[in-house]
Amino acid sequence: MTDKQLAKEVGKRHTFAIISHPDAGKTTITEKVLLFGRALQTAGTVKGKKSGQHAKSDWMEMEKDRGISITTSVMQFPYHDKLVNLLDTPGHEDFSEDTYRTLTAVDSCLMVIDAAKGVEDRTIKLMDVARMRETPVLTFMNKLDRDIRDPIELMDEVENILKISCAPITWPIGQGKQFKGVYHLLNDEVILYQSGQGHTIQKSRVIKGLDNPELDTALDGYAEELRDEIELLKAAANEFDLEEFLAGQLTPVYFGTALGNFGVDHMLDGLTEWAPTPQPRATDQRTIESTESGFSGFVFKIQANMDPNHRDRVAFLRIVSGKYEKGMKMRHVRTGKDVRISDALTFLAGDRSAVEEAWAGDIIGLHNHGTIQIGDTFTQGEDVKFTGIPNFAPELFRRIRLKDPLKAKQLQKGLLQLSEEGAVQVFRPLKNNDLIVGAVGMLQFDVVAQRLKTEYKVDAVYEPINVATARWVDCADARTLEQFRDKAHDNLALDGGDNLTYIAPTMVNLQMAQERHPDIAFRKTREH
Ligand code: G4P
Repeated sequence: MTDKQLAKEVGKRHTFAIISHPDAGKTTITEKVLLFGRALQTAGTVKGKKSGQHAKSDWMEMEKDRGISITTSVMQFPYHDKLVNLLDTPGHEDFSEDTYRTLTAVDSCLMVIDAAKGVEDRTIKLMDVARMRETPVLTFMNKLDRDIRDPIELMDEVENILKISCAPITWPIGQGKQFKGVYHLLNDEVILYQSGQGHTIQKSRVIKGLDNPELDTALDGYAEELRDEIELLKAAANEFDLEEFLAGQLTPVYFGTALGNFGVDHMLDGLTEWAPTPQPRATDQRTIESTESGFSGFVFKIQANMDPNHRDRVAFLRIVSGKYEKGMKMRHVRTGKDVRISDALTFLAGDRSAVEEAWAGDIIGLHNHGTIQIGDTFTQGEDVKFTGIPNFAPELFRRIRLKDPLKAKQLQKGLLQLSEEGAVQVFRPLKNNDLIVGAVGMLQFDVVAQRLKTEYKVDAVYEPINVATARWVDCADARTLEQFRDKAHDNLALDGGDNLTYIAPTMVNLQMAQERHPDIAFRKTREH
């Protein structure tokens, strides 16, 4: 591999995720994006309530039943001369930890807004994360085939609530039944919408120039109104500025209908032209650039039993620098072991196939037999560790009990594997044989019970338990830690990765423990 080849491969990659409130249209957009990537020949109908077909990125029964996306999957597809990686983020608020970690693995985001509703809560939370990391954001105002809110008002709302400037790139002509298409401000062209073509790539009619007399007939009566509106808009709205976009301060705004497959390609054009190529990432020692030749990457997600036919666990690794080649040796930095990897996976629209090579910006799936944890770094020999991939202390706790006591081993195995994914955590108190499940959101308990049943054939029930919070504890001095272990024995437990954790029945109890043991660190988040 030459430096030139590496720069070329890295330079054509864009890795992004969609952030949106449930129902805004993330799944539908994902399908259309894949359709453009020619990964699917005809896009299925969202969640297939009507057609019986499912979006390929939704694979779990639970997701289908509940109509939410629980897991993160990865899709790679070509777009013109670029290569796009789309990471699917779980939409439900109970999965915010998982979403947070997924956003550490992308270089830009697409924010999808239901234009009939405007900015909704979940979008606000996700934008907080994007802003914290200064991730560049593109915006798609969806559902223009319905009666939507005033576009100016929508942009004002984004600016005021999400604190990011809006620069319209396209502008809608009409809405609902009268939706005619959009005017592209930068290309000075009108792109006409035809309804009923949502399943295929449309060849839209394009009329060059706002003054073009063709518009008067094509838009029957709307043309004059459009010209006036655009004049006003140009005076009032922000112009697109690449630097501000890259700094996460300004978002280019597109209008369209994902269901009608209109406008998604305009957004993809913008994404592949402006969104950052694979960005550097910080380690505990130094910052690693994507064009460095040595391979490096970090694991941001682990998923058990991804494919019922394969029954395995997959660790998703974002390549930060260099190139993965089939059969290469990598150092698993946390364990210090060098491992040969010959069967990494890629996820093209949900179908798995072995990758021969992958480059910085790509995601690969590593088969995990229990040795890989979220946050782990892999390199070509350098002992560095990527930072900023946290685990959050759970806020809800339940004791889990078996219906059939003979399945204790299965239960423990299932819980440990599911906790590796980071969605729930399992704690084993030092003082007894309880198994305590901790989660950040209620829905995770149901997900775990259902997965234990289908994937591990264990029937388990939850019981309330008197736990208010948990903290990971450590201390640089081994003796002090040992003494603390004795004194606080009844409140201590081991988590899924055998890390010592303080389980507090009340917040007051936690506070007292902290005061009594000032040399012990009680941590709310744990970097793996
Ligand atoms: P999500 O992943 O963000 O939760 O949203 P999803 O794509 O599942 O879309 C939510 C609903 O909005 C779906 O309807 C979908 O068909 C609809 N939708 C998405 N984009 C558009 C659009 O551009 N125009 C219109 N009119 N609707 C759109 P549903 O009622 O949940 O499913 P179904 O009954 O239509 O199958």
